[in-house]
This record gives sequence, C-alpha cells and structure tokens, in this order.
Amino acid sequence: MQKYVIANWKSNKTFESAQSWLSEFSQAVVKPWSDQLQVVVAPPLSLLQVVAEKKQLNPITQQLVLGVQDISPFAAGSYTGAVAGENLSNFPSSVSVAIVGHSERRRYFKETHQDAANKVARCLELGITPVVCVDDEYIAAQAAAIASEHLDKCVVAYEELGAIGTGNNEPVERVAELVQRIKVAFGEIPVLYGGSVKPANAGDYATICSGVLVGGASLRADSFAQIVAAFN
Ligand code: PGA
Repeated sequence: MQKYVIANWKSNKTFESAQSWLSEFSQAVVKPWSDQLQVVVAPPLSLLQVVAEKKQLNPITQQLVLGVQDISPFAAGSYTGAVAGENLSNFPSSVSVAIVGHSERRRYFKETHQDAANKVARCLELGITPVVCVDDEYIAAQAAAIASEHLDKCVVAYEELGAIGTGNNEPVERVAELVQRIKVAFGEIPVLYGGSVKPANAGDYATICSGVLVGGASLRADSFAQIVAAFN
C-alpha cells in the first residue's frame, strides 16, 4: 500500500525561508526514498510556485510531491477568494495531494462534513488524492457524508484534536485501534496519523499506519527528513 509523509506548513514560512528549507532538506536526506513512499510538501498557496520551481533544481527535492492544505469545493469560476483545482494545474510539477477537512478548517472556518465531502468529489474529478482528516468522534459522520463510491479513493488522516500542536502525541495502541475503525468505515485505504509527530516518535507509527501528517515538526527540514527516514 502507498505510504505518505506529508509536511503541512499551515500559515508559516516566507518566500526566503521556503527556499532555505528545500536546500536544508536536500542536505539532510541521507538516501532517496522508495516509490512506495510519497513525500508531500503542502506550503501556503502563495509559496507553491517558489517551492515547485526550487524543488526541481535538486535530485532529492525533485522527488517531493506538491500538496495543498485546502481546495475549493467549486470548479473554476466566480468564487472570490477560493482556489479551485483548475487554478493549480500549471506548476512545473502539478499538485497531486490535497488535505481536506483539517480540524483547523473545521474550527476556524466552520467547515462541515459536507464541505469536506464536496472537496473530496472535486479532488477525484481532478485526479488529486484527497487526504481527509478525521477525529475519533466523527469518523462515521464524515464517512456518511462522502459519496459511497468515493470512500475507498480517499487517504484518511486520523488526527485526535488534543494531539495537534500540543506535544501530546496519541499512544500507538490507540492509533492502531483507530486505523482499524477507519478502514471499516472507508475501506482498505492508506490511513495516516497526525498530531505532534516528531523524529522521536515517527518510527513507532511507521509500524502501524501508512504514513503521517506533520505540522510543527515539518517546519524544520532536518526534523522532517528524519521523519521521512522512519517511513523509508
Ligand atoms: P502538529 O500538527 O504536527 O503540529 O501536531 C499536525 C496537523 O495539524 O496536521
């Protein structure tokens, strides 16, 4: 099964620091990763172009896949402020992963299960892999909102709210249990874990899930490279 290690930079970094991250990352990676692993960087949209261009300049960073942290539920058109999948298609290497329904989108932007389901549909129309974020409490409700024929085309990231950005990563046994519950709801799909993943704990998750969604620890290229190594 395909594995994913995803850097979610959230609303962090500048034009300059995004470029230095790529240089530092290329130096920190000890060996190229296998085709079974997708290493994704999801920068803020305004930095997508610079990351897309700069990553092509080095054989290590060339392997990186571009992701977005959100996507419009609508096709291109009159939707002020929204970035549709069609707006993302002209980078030197195009965007192939979109994070959908992150808890910060739900909490601060009031996004619903149905919004996430609409974004999943859009991603699949465009050939983008949706990474749907779920918390324990709403796995079933989120799965119920997604069209049944779309469920096994998703990647799901289990992200317990109390573990995000707190340093309190979820115990591995509990994540293993949730991975099984998610597979019952969605099908035999890759399930990732997210919530205070760091170099010191990434190896534990590598034994029980198909990857990790990394916030804070992805901002440092050396930490992120160590997390990648744990899944390679
Ligand atoms: P964190 O964020 O790694 O900083 O906990 C994870 C996430 O929000 O996906």
